[in-house]
Amino acid sequence: MRNEQIYVVRIGGGERLTRLLQTALEGTASQSISIDALGQGLRDAAILFAVGVDALGVSEEFLRLLRLLRQNNGCLRGSIAGIVVDGESELYSKSAAQELALAANMAGCTFLGKSLVEGTGSLYNQHILAQRMNRSWEDTYFLRAKELVQRLLTHQPKKFDAPKLLMLHASDHRLSNTVWLGRELVRRLPESFAAQEISLQNGTIQDCRGCSYAACLHYAENNTCFYGGTIPEEVLPAIRSCDALLLLCPNYNDSVSANMMALFNRMTNLLVQQELLDKYLFSVVVSGYSGSDLVARQLLGTLCFNKTVTLPGNFCMLETAHDPGAAQQLQGIGDRLDAFAAHMVDILQK
Ligand SMILES: Cc1cc2nc3c(=O)[nH]c(=O)nc-3n(C[C@H](O)[C@H](O)[C@H](O)COP(=O)(O)O)c2cc1C
Repeated sequence: MRNEQIYVVRIGGGERLTRLLQTALEGTASQSISIDALGQGLRDAAILFAVGVDALGVSEEFLRLLRLLRQNNGCLRGSIAGIVVDGESELYSKSAAQELALAANMAGCTFLGKSLVEGTGSLYNQHILAQRMNRSWEDTYFLRAKELVQRLLTHQPKKFDAPKLLMLHASDHRLSNTVWLGRELVRRLPESFAAQEISLQNGTIQDCRGCSYAACLHYAENNTCFYGGTIPEEVLPAIRSCDALLLLCPNYNDSVSANMMALFNRMTNLLVQQELLDKYLFSVVVSGYSGSDLVARQLLGTLCFNKTVTLPGNFCMLETAHDPGAAQQLQGIGDRLDAFAAHMVDILQK
C-alpha cells in the first residue's frame, strides 16, 4: 500500500525547522495533526514527527506527546513514521528522538531503518555526508529530511513465505532468562519459519578496532575484518542472509552486554557493503530490577537509526526477572509469549 499523504506532527522548533519542512514537503501532500488527535488514534498512516529541542532539552509539549502515546495503547498501529529533530545546541536531540521512537513504537508504529534525521545546533553532525554530497551542511540536512519523507510515502512492508529468523544472544544458555524466553518464542512459531540460533559466547568477541572506512571496506570485500573470527565468519553472513533478527538482551548496567555491543560496533563491516533496510528487528529485553526501556532505546537507536534495520511496531518484549529461571515464574508469561510470537508471524509472514 502506498501512502497518499504524510501527517506532520510538529512540536516546537524555530525558523530552521520551518524551512526544513518547506523543503522536505515540497510537492508532497501533507497534513498537520495535533498531538491530541494523534493520541486518539492514527492508524495505517505515514507520519513525520518534527521536533524542536532547545538548549535546555525537551519541552512540556513533547512530554505530553510521550504520555499520550504511552496512555493510548495501539493508537499508531499499522502506521509508519520518521523523526526529524532540530536541536538548538549539540545536546539532547538524539535522546529526544530515541524516547519518542520507543513511545511511538510501543503504540504500534513502525520505524524504517535510518528514520532519524537529526540536526544539532551547529549542524556539524552533517559534515561527513555533506562532504560526500558536495553540499552545504544545511542543504544536506534538508535533503535527508526530504528523502525520509519520500521513503515513508513509498514504503512497501516486506512479507515472506518462509521467514528466516536469526536469534542472537550472549548468555549462558542453561541459566539465562532471555535465552529461555527467546527459545519459547521460537517454539511457538509455525514450522514454515527457518530459525537459526547463534551464541556470541561461542568465540572470543573483540570490540571494533575503528579501522579507516577504506580499510573496513577492504576487509569486508574479502569477507573478513581486522580481527577475523566468529563475527565475520559466522555472525555477519547469518545477518546478511536473514529476514529478521531476534536479539536476546539482558540488561547489563542499563545497556546491552559487552559482547552484543561489540557485535553492533563491528556491524559497520557489513554496512560498508549493504544497508539492512529490508530486515526487521525483534528483541527480548530482561532486567533484573528495572531499566528495560533504556536497553530498548539503545537497541532502536543503534540498530534502526544507525545500522539501518527496520523496527516493526512493538518490536520488543520487555520483562523483569532476576534469578535463573525467574522468567518462567512470571505471572502471565505464557500469554505474553503467545501474543508476541503471533505478532512476529503477523509482521513477517504473507
Ligand atoms: C554484569 C551485570 C549487570 C547487570 N546490570 C543490571 C542493571 O543495571 N539493571 C538491572 O535491572 N539488572 C541488571 N542485571 C541483572 C540482569 O539483567 C538479570 O539478571 C537478567 O535476568 C539477566 O538475563 P539473563 O538471565 O538472560 O542473563 C545485571 C546482571 C549482570 C550479570
